[in-house]
Formats: sequence, structure tokens, C-alpha cells
Amino acid sequence: MGSWFLLVLVIIVSTSYQGAFSCPQRCTCHFSSKTTEVVCPDASLTHFPSESLPGNTTSLTIQYTNLKNISTHELRATPLLQELHLPGNGLSSLPAEMLKGLPHLHTIDLTGNQLRDLPPLVFYHAPLLNLVLKDNLLTSASADWLPSNSNLTWLDLSGNRLIKAPFALLQNLGLLETLHLSQNLLEELPADSFQSLPALERLHLDENKLQALDAKAFSCNTNLTHLFLQKNKLKSLPATIFHGLDRLQYLDLSENRLQFVAPGTLGLSISWVELSLNPWHCDSKMEYLWKMLNKKSVQSEPTCATPEMLKDRAIATLTRKELGLED
Ligand SMILES: *[C@@H]1O[C@H](CO)[C@@H](O)[C@H](O)[C@H]1NC(C)=O
Ligand SMILES: *[C@@H]1O[C@H](CO)[C@@H](O)[C@H](O)[C@H]1NC(C)=O
Ligand SMILES: *[C@@H]1O[C@H](CO)[C@@H](O)[C@H](O)[C@H]1NC(C)=O
Ligand SMILES: *[C@@H]1O[C@H](CO)[C@@H](O)[C@H](O)[C@H]1NC(C)=O
Repeated sequence: MGSWFLLVLVIIVSTSYQGAFSCPQRCTCHFSSKTTEVVCPDASLTHFPSESLPGNTTSLTIQYTNLKNISTHELRATPLLQELHLPGNGLSSLPAEMLKGLPHLHTIDLTGNQLRDLPPLVFYHAPLLNLVLKDNLLTSASADWLPSNSNLTWLDLSGNRLIKAPFALLQNLGLLETLHLSQNLLEELPADSFQSLPALERLHLDENKLQALDAKAFSCNTNLTHLFLQKNKLKSLPATIFHGLDRLQYLDLSENRLQFVAPGTLGLSISWVELSLNPWHCDSKMEYLWKMLNKKSVQSEPTCATPEMLKDRAIATLTRKELGLED
């Protein structure tokens, strides 16, 4: 009789214990006093893990699964959600007004899905600060994805198929500090491209098809500290393009088609500039760059491509005579 009672007690206690700390199958849950984190990393997952999902989940990660869709209704079951990470799934579309019912969500990561375009108002209703749409199939980005009072500080659209920078969307993002547009198909940057982004500090434009930059492409972005332009097709730079960017510390121009930079192009505040893997032509017009390379600590050692006589020589090591400069 006593042991029967004990058994019942054990069952009651263990069931109520499971109830209090429920966790979906194929997921792990971590409870602390301030957060409930759920991580579902199982490739065999094909549906949103609604069952047993703790109602007070603050961070939900569903990664590298076979999840193909997600609904507003499913997400509403966790109204305390602050972070939603969905990398590496098979999502090809998202519901309109997907974040309705998530008044605390500040971060959403949709890296590595199959998103081609997104419905209007998709990221409305949540106080988003970080939005990551990296490595999808987006050809454009629309202004109505985010509300006009958005406080977004981090936007990652790298690894998509954008032919133009998403000016309309950027119009409402006056607090944006970091913008990733790397690995897209951008061909040119007109004047004041990023004029709506006065707080911008880091701008990633590497691995695009940029051939030309307007002299005033960055003129409104005086808070820029890091600018990434490597792996483009830049043949020349307007001499004043970096003027006024008094906080710019890091500039990457490597792997472009530069043969020459005009005197004074690279501002004085820049403490680190990458110039390697450009077809530099080493003659007397190189004096400015040569002097700069001898003064500043530049991480890379750019080398001459032409003339043949100086091919592969580090620019900084050339003599005045080799550059054809008068003594
Ligand atoms: C979430 O619920 C679990 C189980 O009831 C509880 O232990 C945990 O403290 C709760 N977490 C928060 C952040 O409220
Ligand atoms: C989501 O995908 C599942 C599994 O493929 C399917 O059963 C369900 O109908 C889909 N739901 C929506 C809203 O498309
Ligand atoms: C942005 O922040 C302001 C001030 O804190 C707030 O009133 C506003 O609701 C926020 N915007 C969004 C979309 O959450
Ligand atoms: C530019 O940066 C400074 C220093 O971090 C900051 O105080 C200022 O608010 C920034 N400007 C804008 C427009 O965000």
C-alpha cells in the first residue's frame, strides 16, 4: 500500500515537473530567472515546434531544419519573445504582419533561407533593433517592411541579389549604425546614396559590382568609422570622396581595379587602409601613395602591377629614382 502511494506521488510530481519545464521534442530548453531559451537544431523537424513550447520563451532558435513555413498564429503563443533566430531553414515566404503579437521582439535572424520577396508590413508591430536577411534570394527591399518609426540599428542584406541599394527602405532608418550590403549585384552608388543614415558607422559594400562611386556617395555619413569596398570593380576614386569623413578609421579598397589614387584622397583620420591586389601603376604619379605608405602603418603591402620592371615590388620599398621622381 505504502509503495503504491509513493509511486502515485512520484508520477504526480514528475508530471507536474514536466509541465512546469515543458520543452518541445527535438529541442533543448534552458530556463533561468530572466530568460527561457529554446533551441531546435534537428534536421528532421518539419513543423513549428508548437507543442510544449514554453509560453514564456524569450529566445527561440530553429536552425538547419526542414521548416518550410511559419505563421503569425504560431509565434503568438510566445508573447515574451525577444529574439527569433531562424537560420538555415527552407522558408520561402513569410506571413504579412508576421510579428503581430510580439511586442518585445528586438532581433530576428533569417540567414540562409529561400526568401525571394516579402509581404508588406512583414516586420511591423515589433520594436526591432536587429534584422538579418543575409543569404537569401531577395532582388529588392521594400519601404513597407518596417514602420516609419523604426529604431533599427543593424540591417544585414548581404548575400542577396540586390542590383540597387534599397534606398526606399533606408529612408526610415535614421538610427541605423551598421548596414551590410556585401555580396550583392550593386553596380553604382549615386550622390547622397545613404543620406537618410546620419548615424551610420559601419558600411559593408564588399563583393559587389561597383565600377564607379559618386564623389558625394558618402558625404552625409560623417559618423562612418568602417567602410568596406573590397572585391569590387573600382577603376578610380573621386579625389574628394572620403573628405569630411573625419571619424573614418578603417578603409578596405583591396581587390579592385585601381591603378592610381589622386593626392589627398585618403583622409588623415584613416589609420588602417587596405590597398592590396589592385593593378597599381608605379610611376611618378604614385608619389602621394608611396609617401603615405611610408608614413602610415598599413596592414597590407600593395605591390606594383606595372611597369614590367617594377612588377610585384612593394610600393613602399621603391626608391625615388625607381618612381621617376626628381631628387
Ligand atoms: C518560465 O517558466 C518556467 C516554468 O514555469 C519557470 O521556471 C521560469 O522561471 C520562467 N521564466 C521566466 C523568465 O519567467
Ligand atoms: C506549412 O507546412 C506544413 C508542412 O509542410 C503544412 O502541413 C502546412 O499546411 C503549411 N502551412 C501553411 C500555412 O502553409
Ligand atoms: C522607437 O523608439 C521610440 C522611443 O523610444 C518609441 O516611441 C517607438 O515606439 C519605437 N519604435 C518602434 C517601431 O518600436
Ligand atoms: C555620431 O557619433 C557620435 C559619437 O558616437 C554620437 O554622439 C552622435 O549622436 C552620432 N550622430 C548621429 C547622427 O547619430
